[in-house]
Amino acid sequence: MSPTPVPDDKFSFGLWTVGWPAADPFGTATRPVLDPWEYAQRLAELGAWGISFHDNDVFDFDTPPTVERERLAELKRACEQSGLVIEMVTTNTFTHPVFKDGGLTSNDRTVRRFGLRKILHAVDIAAEMGATTFVMWGGREGAEYDGSKDLHSAFARYAEGLDTVAAHIKDQGYDLRIGLEPKPNEPRGDILLPTVGHALALIAELEHGDIVGLNPETGHEQMAGLNYTHGLAQALWADKLFHIDLNGQRGLKYDQDLVFGHGDLLSAFFTVDLLENGFVANPDGPRYTGPKHFDYKPSRTEHLNGVWESAQACMQTYLMLADKAKAFRADPRVHEAWHRAGVDSLAEPTLDAGESIADFLAREEDFDVTAAAERDYGFVRLNQLALEHLIG
Ligand code: GCO
Ligand code: MN
Ligand code: MN
Repeated sequence: MSPTPVPDDKFSFGLWTVGWPAADPFGTATRPVLDPWEYAQRLAELGAWGISFHDNDVFDFDTPPTVERERLAELKRACEQSGLVIEMVTTNTFTHPVFKDGGLTSNDRTVRRFGLRKILHAVDIAAEMGATTFVMWGGREGAEYDGSKDLHSAFARYAEGLDTVAAHIKDQGYDLRIGLEPKPNEPRGDILLPTVGHALALIAELEHGDIVGLNPETGHEQMAGLNYTHGLAQALWADKLFHIDLNGQRGLKYDQDLVFGHGDLLSAFFTVDLLENGFVANPDGPRYTGPKHFDYKPSRTEHLNGVWESAQACMQTYLMLADKAKAFRADPRVHEAWHRAGVDSLAEPTLDAGESIADFLAREEDFDVTAAAERDYGFVRLNQLALEHLIG
């Protein structure tokens, strides 16, 4: 039987996910567009805890301020009535043609100043709506041609933009943190900050990097052939996992935004295992406590019923995997396999406490190279146990 999601599970959806009318580069929309509050109400009925949105998911790019106010108020009212939290807000700096060369890193300075103002305005909206995360996905920050952008300047302008947004958050005293969302390509041929690692490295150079972290997306890492769980783990280890975008992706191709688990299922299992149960050998290590946020797209073949079914599928898949991961962690055979594999002993520092490098180098150790080279780690058995829990 499929589990029933409840608000305590802390599931959240971008309004642009269920709200995607399914127009793609080859075909027009296959579904009608509802008002943002209608999506919110429906998500609440399905058991979601929260929502997120881009400024222009709620009001159009050129909406007059009075209408903008009205629409935001209407959405807030609907969320309050249905008990939904507006947990994250973000800016659309990719749809309008003015952003065709980016918002923060456009070669055109007037566009950069316009983009920055739009982002700062969305930060004010985020604070007003009670959101605690402000995501920045720079889908148009990038290039098709290596010669079209001075890359040193592009990184400098990206950092300048992020520091300005972070400084504004601090100046205003907002309870907000920025989550950078890496993506390797699409819509640009190559996007700046293509992976979790690139984003972490840029954050380390910022003046206000303390409130800037990551919002990694399953498919974005997998589009680059990378391991999503490893990306989450490194962000967690660096205390930078501020938010997540869960979805499904099948290999190195365009951003599929499938239902969570409908891509690489075994990878999804270990993602949920990490999110729910933390690091195996570091029970007191950093844990993710934020919303389980889905950024998927109901397939173009589905009509409105399929939209709600797919949203439900994201939550149910997560809950089913959480159950399996719990059973996996509790299985005595798994504990034995971890031990045989050395998973627990990796937590032990390689040097002794207080051991100097000189002491270490001088120490004669009784080490049997042949025996160590012949060690059977049993990683395959461990993985098979995971698989057994997953499909058993
Ligand atoms: C994408 C991205 C976006 C962002 C969204 C929030 O590939 O289109 O995942 O959906 O998550 O813009 O910043
Ligand atoms: Mn995406
Ligand atoms: Mn995303």
